Amino acid sequence: MSEPVYFAAVPRLKWSLWLLPALACRGPFPQSTLDPRSDFSAAIDGLFTNIFWWALFVFVVVESLLVYAIIRYRARPGAPEPKPLHGHTALEIGWTLAPALILVFIAVPTIRTIFATAGHAPPSALRVEVIGHQWWWEFRYPSLGITTANELHLPVHTPIQLDLSSADIIHSFWVPRLGGKRDLTPGHVTRIAFRSDSAGEYLGQCAEFCGVSHANMRLRVFVQPEAEFQAWVAGQQPASGPAAAGGDARVPEGRQEFVRNGCIACHTIAELPQARGVLGPNLSRVGSRTTIAGGLFANTADNLRRWIHNAPAVKPGALMPPSLLPDSELDALVAYLQSLK
Ligand code: CUA
Repeated sequence: MSEPVYFAAVPRLKWSLWLLPALACRGPFPQSTLDPRSDFSAAIDGLFTNIFWWALFVFVVVESLLVYAIIRYRARPGAPEPKPLHGHTALEIGWTLAPALILVFIAVPTIRTIFATAGHAPPSALRVEVIGHQWWWEFRYPSLGITTANELHLPVHTPIQLDLSSADIIHSFWVPRLGGKRDLTPGHVTRIAFRSDSAGEYLGQCAEFCGVSHANMRLRVFVQPEAEFQAWVAGQQPASGPAAAGGDARVPEGRQEFVRNGCIACHTIAELPQARGVLGPNLSRVGSRTTIAGGLFANTADNLRRWIHNAPAVKPGALMPPSLLPDSELDALVAYLQSLK
């Protein structure tokens, strides 16, 4: 199995992974809260910067006074004891008022940001239902009739509302450059509303420990220009007809294998009437995705083959049981899935 795509994207940084805690927020790192690309994340970044400068101010003042006192009043041979100070009304009022004021300067923008990022999007917003599963993401676009997995496509310059819930246990949606994070809780809908004015590909990650493959529950968000987004929407419609065979003679055989091997019990494929399972990701247009297995591996024939052969061997805890199919049947299945574009 080739390497997880996250690492494949930054191979030269692999050796320095231990530096991540110190460096993770800037530079070439794909998940940086300090490189905001939406109104939501810009609000959080602005708040962070504001509080950072206040903290730096307090640090400099306190440490300067401390260093001054240490040097000025240090013990010296023959020097008299410094005069003890007991009660100083002006000082006491000063060091009570100053922190209170600083707290106000921090609290007001903080509360303002909490409310600003907790609201609903306007009615014109594109609404997407996000459902957390162990260990992948389901995305449903009720107004567009699309269900997909792990890769969220959104139009740029458009208000977005994500309605978050979970199929099993608590997960947390976090795409640092777009905002968040917010919990997905079974039986309860939480929301994130934002708007991105910057097209691009943004990486995200489940941010609430949810079991053995929590770290392998990744997602990608493609914020696209309107025309590109509409092209994606058109390509995802079941109405666009059965997937083209693409000239691969093994596609019909793969379609049969998909039914015969019980894949239909857990997966939906729009063009295949028998395939209406909902436990696993909807595979109607799986060939159009860039990754598989919760964003863990690039969507290549080789990775698909290994994934179908023995999913838990390459992603701990993966719920899809090993198929252990012979190569010829695996190849047919892979050809079929890749034809679903
Ligand atoms: Cu889902 Cu951690």
